Amino acid sequence: MHPTTATSSPIFILPANLKWGDDLARVIAIVRHHFDDFNGNGFYPHPREESLQRELLAVPALAGLARAIGASGARGLAITGLGLGALAEADRNAVLYAIALTRGFPTSTDQRTGRVAWDVRARPAHEAQSRFTTFSERVGGADMHTDSSFYPMPEEQFMLYVVKAARCQGGASLLIDVDDIVRALARSAAGRAAFTLLCAASVPFRVPSVYAASDEQLEYHLAPVFHRPDGEDGGWAMRWRYDSICKGLAARPDLGSAPLRAALELVNELVEYSAPRFSHRLPDDTLLWADNHRTLHGRSPYTDAARHLIRIRMSNTPNARRVGPSGIAAD
Ligand SMILES: [Fe+2]
Repeated sequence: MHPTTATSSPIFILPANLKWGDDLARVIAIVRHHFDDFNGNGFYPHPREESLQRELLAVPALAGLARAIGASGARGLAITGLGLGALAEADRNAVLYAIALTRGFPTSTDQRTGRVAWDVRARPAHEAQSRFTTFSERVGGADMHTDSSFYPMPEEQFMLYVVKAARCQGGASLLIDVDDIVRALARSAAGRAAFTLLCAASVPFRVPSVYAASDEQLEYHLAPVFHRPDGEDGGWAMRWRYDSICKGLAARPDLGSAPLRAALELVNELVEYSAPRFSHRLPDDTLLWADNHRTLHGRSPYTDAARHLIRIRMSNTPNARRVGPSGIAAD
C-alpha cells in the first residue's frame, strides 16, 4: 500500500490496494477456531490474545496491512476499499477483530457483555427514549474528544469501519492532530499560559453516570489535559472530553480556578472551531485507524439513521495487564 498523494499531515487517506486472496478465508478460519462464541458478533478480549496475535500475524495479507499502518507514520489513516463489503456480519467482524489484534489488544467496550466490536449507529427511537444514549447511539454531531478520557488507561488506538456511510450530506469523520493544537496555543500569550496550566493541573473528568457504579457515587478521574506519554514516538498527547470536564468541575468546583476555566474554554474554542482538521465523509468499506492519544476525533452532524460504523479500541497493553475499566460504549 502506498499513499497516492503527497502530504505533510499525519492524518490522511490511503487506498487499501490490498489483495486478500485466500487470506480472508484463512483469517476467518483462525478466529473461528479460537472463539466458540462470537458474542453477538461483538467478540471479547480473547484469554490467549498474545498467542492469537502471533498466529494472525503469520497471515501475509494481515501482516502487510498492520505493517502498512505502522510504516505510514500516520496518526490517523482512512484506508479505503478494504475489501470486506461483501462479507456477512459475523465474518466481517471476525476480520475486524483480527485486524485490531494485529495492531494492539482490543478492549471491552460494553462492560455488561464484554463486546469489543461496537455498532456505531442510531438506535430506533423507541429504544433511544427508554435509556440514556451516547454519541455513538444517536444521529447528530459529536464534539471533538479522545475516547475513554475519564479512565486511568485510555486505549492508545481505535478503529472505525464504515459499513454504511450516511447518505445525507453530513456524518464527516473529523480528526485533529494534537501537535496542531499545541502549535496553535504557542502563538499567543494566553495560549501559552493555557498550555502550561493544562500540562500541570489535575482536571476532573467525570465518568458518565450511566456507566458509574451507582448514581449516588460520583466517579471522576483526575488527570492533566496534556502530557507526554512514555513509549510513544515523542510529541504531546491529550485527554479531552469537554462535557466530562465540565461535569467534573461541577462536582469538584474547588479544582476549577478562574485561570483553569479560561484555559479549558480557550482549548474548547480552538478544537471546535479553528484548529486545522481532517474532515471527510468516508465511503462504505473504509477502515479509519487513529491514535487516540495524539489526535482528537469527532463527527459532523448527520441525519441519515441508516449510517452504520463498527468501532474497536485497542490498548498497547494486553488486557490482563490493564488498570481500571476498559473503554465504554460512550464516545
Ligand atoms: Fe469517540
